Amino acid sequence: MYINMLIEIPALLSTKKLSEVQQILAQASFVDGKLSAGMAAKRVKNNTELPQDAQQLERLNGLVMSTLVQHPLFQNAALPHRIAAPFYAKYEQGQTYGEHIDDPVMGPAGQRYRSDISCTVFLNTPEDYQGGELQIKTQYGSQAIKLGAGSAILYPSTSLHQVSPVTAGTRLVAVTWVQSMIRQAERRELLFELNQAREVLMREQPDAEVTHQVDHSYVNLIRMWAEM
Ligand code: NI
Repeated sequence: MYINMLIEIPALLSTKKLSEVQQILAQASFVDGKLSAGMAAKRVKNNTELPQDAQQLERLNGLVMSTLVQHPLFQNAALPHRIAAPFYAKYEQGQTYGEHIDDPVMGPAGQRYRSDISCTVFLNTPEDYQGGELQIKTQYGSQAIKLGAGSAILYPSTSLHQVSPVTAGTRLVAVTWVQSMIRQAERRELLFELNQAREVLMREQPDAEVTHQVDHSYVNLIRMWAEM
C-alpha cells in the first residue's frame, strides 16, 4: 500500500497535440499568477498564467483536458466527480511557487468544488528549463517531479508542495483539481489497487467465479463510499 499515492500518467498528450498547445501558448499573453491565488498562496506564488477569460482556453482545454479525463489511469486513480477548469501557467527564470497546500474549496459561486486531487500536466520538455521541479512532501520524504512533455502527475491535494525556482529557460504546465467521488485518499488507493487486480482477472479469467467476486466487491465498495 502506498499512502499519499502519486500517480504518473506518461505521454498523456501526443506530440501533435503538444505542439499545438505549445504554439497557442507561445502566442498568448499571460498575467500575474497572484491574481488567482488564495490569501496564503499569494505570498509564495510567483508565476504567470493565462487569464481565465482568455479566448485560447476553449481550444487548449479541448486538447489537454479532454485527453486527461478520458485516460483510464486518470479515471481509475481519481474516480472523478467534478474536474476544475485548469490554469495554464508559465515560470520563467527566477520564478517559483513556494511551499503551500492548495485551497480546499475552489471555483466560482454556484460551481464550487472540493479539491481532493491536484494534477500537473507538463507542457514542455525538461530540457527547456533548469530547476522548476514540482516537490511534493509524502510520508516517505520529498519527491521531486519533473516529467517529460505531455506527461501528468496526480497527487493528493492535502500534500505540501512547491515548485522550485526556475534558474534558466521556461517551464509550462497546466494545473487542475479533481473532486473525487471518493473523498479519502486511503480509500481511493485501496480501490485503485483492487481495480488493478480486477482488470487482470477480467482479461485473463473473464468467466471465473473469483473474477466475479472481485468485480462485485469493487463495484459495491464504490457504491458504499461514493459521495456526489
Ligand atoms: Ni499548489
